[in-house]
Amino acid sequence: MREASELLRGLRTGVAGQPHSPFFLVIAPFVTHYKAMRTAIYPGSFDPFTNGHLDVVQRASRLFDRVIVAVAKSDGKHPLFLIEERKSLVEQSIRGMRNVEADTFDGLLVNYVEKHSAQAVLRGLRAVSDFEFEFQMALMNRKLNDSFETIFMMPKDTYTFLSSRIVKEIARLGGDVKQFVPDHVQAALSVKLGLKKDKESPKSVTQTGAESAS
Ligand code: PNS
Repeated sequence: MREASELLRGLRTGVAGQPHSPFFLVIAPFVTHYKAMRTAIYPGSFDPFTNGHLDVVQRASRLFDRVIVAVAKSDGKHPLFLIEERKSLVEQSIRGMRNVEADTFDGLLVNYVEKHSAQAVLRGLRAVSDFEFEFQMALMNRKLNDSFETIFMMPKDTYTFLSSRIVKEIARLGGDVKQFVPDHVQAALSVKLGLKKDKESPKSVTQTGAESAS
């Protein structure tokens, strides 16, 4: 608030009491808007994006001017979907949300956050079991870069049991995941797992065990 009132006073008086040029008066509102922009990064493996993730994004989009769902490469977790596939599933899920976008990143999260001048990193917190890992990650990120905050958001209570890992397991075993993921994610799971079954790839079984719980 103080920042805004100082800016308004500056607009009236200009430098050393002189009025500002017309050009400055025209661009000033945009400069003000840019300064006030609040960006949040929502990082994750999103393998695949679930209704729980979507719920967090919807809540965040009401709090921040810009929300970037940042799909991590997460090679070490041997994801089922390729990074571009995961990004595409996010894009289809956020269609129509004007201040939300999807992106991919590789490397340190703190570098990505800095590159986008974001003020916050968002993480969904479902249960106490999530807390230890999330706490460690948030504090480590703060050690690496103290210029942003990690904010934990609780998804709707009906999603507290939901995870990408469980969704994949249910789908793989022929269960119905309709209520847990957007329709296009369900379709993508069927195709992906169907293809894998056709090929009878033993590698896909190994990959399953190493996937993350998120
Ligand atoms: O959905 P996930 O797999 O739980 O997301 C974890 C993720 C991708 C947010 C985390 O592994 C991450 O930030 N990876 C980027 C690499 C990094 O910055 N590692 C240091 C974290 S302290």
